[in-house]
Amino acid sequence: MTNRSRLSYKLAFAARHPGQIVPYVRRVCVDAWLRAGRRDHVSYYRSVMKYKAAHNLDVAVGSRSHDQWVEFGQMQFDYLARHGLEPGDQVLEIGCGNLRAGRLLIRYLDPGHYYGVDISPEILVSAQQVISDDGLQDKLSNLTLVTDLTLEFLPPSYFDVVHANSVFTHCPIDIVEQSIASVGRVMAPGAFFDFTFYRADGDEYQVHHEDFYYRTETLTALAAKYGFTAELQDDWHDPWDNQPKLRLTRRTALSSLDPILVIQTPASTSFCVKHPDNLCN
Ligand SMILES: C[S@@+](CC[C@H](N)C(=O)[O-])C[C@H]1O[C@@H](n2cnc3c(N)ncnc32)[C@H](O)[C@@H]1O
Repeated sequence: MTNRSRLSYKLAFAARHPGQIVPYVRRVCVDAWLRAGRRDHVSYYRSVMKYKAAHNLDVAVGSRSHDQWVEFGQMQFDYLARHGLEPGDQVLEIGCGNLRAGRLLIRYLDPGHYYGVDISPEILVSAQQVISDDGLQDKLSNLTLVTDLTLEFLPPSYFDVVHANSVFTHCPIDIVEQSIASVGRVMAPGAFFDFTFYRADGDEYQVHHEDFYYRTETLTALAAKYGFTAELQDDWHDPWDNQPKLRLTRRTALSSLDPILVIQTPASTSFCVKHPDNLCN
């Protein structure tokens, strides 16, 4: 996979697409202006979303057109439906945007079963508009503005499905880690957490401070640090952005990577397995 932050990539791209040079320079200037005076990534990215939302809401959440917004929302919903989503499930969507997938989840789920969080007030206001345009008022969905992903205001062991599409693509690693660390607390037993990311095959890098490329190994190691097993979903194909999807589930069974100490107790011939998730006295 190409490293888009390299000068050689940028020069080759400019030679192939000369019409993109002016928009690129404009984007660099806008990025510098949006970053000026912003202390942390969330306030910077909030201003990116405000800027983009003022131009085009569908484009702001990563679609190239409204038709694509509709199509990509359907793809996300169909994927979860194929993976056993039930109307009675409690769903948390991190970085819900203007409900590209959320409106379909809200329609399908029982009232009060959809919870969306996002850092962008403009996007959440447009999400409310989508709910009224789609006639979903009686579903009583929750849309909450957040400034971080600690999720401290949400109940423990509550959500059956946690979903974050094209969100960690815009987050530095400390925010990704904060999210993975927090999600475990709010996941119900047997729940899963799906998220997509931009994959780097070599060095990890970022473009314009807003697109972050991670190695799969970095994310699976983070998941393991917080007690999850991470699996790449090979039945997910994003035809536009080529973002892979990782599914995190709570590690319950013994894994060959876990430290295991087998002790034979003196009083019997049985074995006691010492393991972080399964400590015997
Ligand atoms: C590319 S859009 C995708 C929106 C939605 N998931 C979808 O697929 O339509 C990324 C969204 O994530 C939100 N976002 C970015 N960083 C976030 C963070 N640290 N916490 C919560 N939301 C975040 C943005 O405001 C934006 O709405």
